[in-house]
Amino acid sequence: MSVGRTKRDRPGMGRLERKDNQPNRKPPLRLFTTTLWEYPSQHYLTWVEDGKVTQTGQNVGAEHRPATQGDKHYTAATPSWVVWQLLMRYTRRNDLVVDPMCGSGTTLDVARDLGRRAVGYDLSPTRDDIFRADARELPLEDSVADFVFVDPPYSTHVTYSDDPACIGKLDAGGADGGRAYYQAMARVIGEIDRVLKDRRYMGLYVSDSWRKKSRRGAMGGEFMPIGFELFSMLRERFEPVDIVCVVRQNAKLKRGNWHKAAETENFFMRGFGYLFIMKKVRGARGAT
Ligand SMILES: C[S@@+](CC[C@H](N)C(=O)[O-])C[C@H]1O[C@@H](n2cnc3c(N)ncnc32)[C@H](O)[C@@H]1O
Repeated sequence: MSVGRTKRDRPGMGRLERKDNQPNRKPPLRLFTTTLWEYPSQHYLTWVEDGKVTQTGQNVGAEHRPATQGDKHYTAATPSWVVWQLLMRYTRRNDLVVDPMCGSGTTLDVARDLGRRAVGYDLSPTRDDIFRADARELPLEDSVADFVFVDPPYSTHVTYSDDPACIGKLDAGGADGGRAYYQAMARVIGEIDRVLKDRRYMGLYVSDSWRKKSRRGAMGGEFMPIGFELFSMLRERFEPVDIVCVVRQNAKLKRGNWHKAAETENFFMRGFGYLFIMKKVRGARGAT
């Protein structure tokens, strides 16, 4: 977990304050009780003293250092409070949490904040506690994980690494109709099923995708319903527990020119991500 001093941590001021002199106003995290999830930040606040997390969401004084989860500068980092909600509901202390596509390590940090054990993999590890592995072939034994969280690439709009095995290089709406992307994701979902213990839960966070037609001046575009496609794959192996709509706090959505284009060119910007919560139940369709 990153517990280093941040720009907001101004020594000698008697209390921690933001650079803009506004006290930290992130609301404390509480369990959400509906299927519409929204929080005004990418991260929740934890305060760490002597290496121990002391409180969540509250400014407790200058001797404490703010800690974040994962790296907010990592493109396409998962909002950490999404992982927090899941782990609070579906895991217990010392449970083993696995993230096969760990990115900046958000899942690891949240899990450790909450006293869970955590193992993370990625094709392109960003830190020492993430192991290099392909999510289609995890170096884990069967049925060891108490919870699996995954936030996979949503088609090709982010370049994660140069690794040709990166699933973010597979086009969910390409000339092959997205076949290679969905086949790769079917293998990732198969591995999640293999490593998860029976009667335990997993969460997959994903967004649909839309892109403009590449022809110059052409109106319209191509919609890729990645959420529903992946949900139907999950259904082959798991029991559905619930589907959550996660409101996206995307800086792009705040830009006026995008809104203008969305009106004049008749498209929608992505306003939410899906969070699919599933349970492995031995004997469910397709489960081995
Ligand atoms: C949306 S990001 C994950 C973000 C992460 N949850 C976080 O909060 O930082 C998707 C990740 O999938 C990884 N990835 C893509 N293909 C992969 C594969 N075949 N095996 C493992 N990781 C892969 C990328 O390197 C990228 O880090």
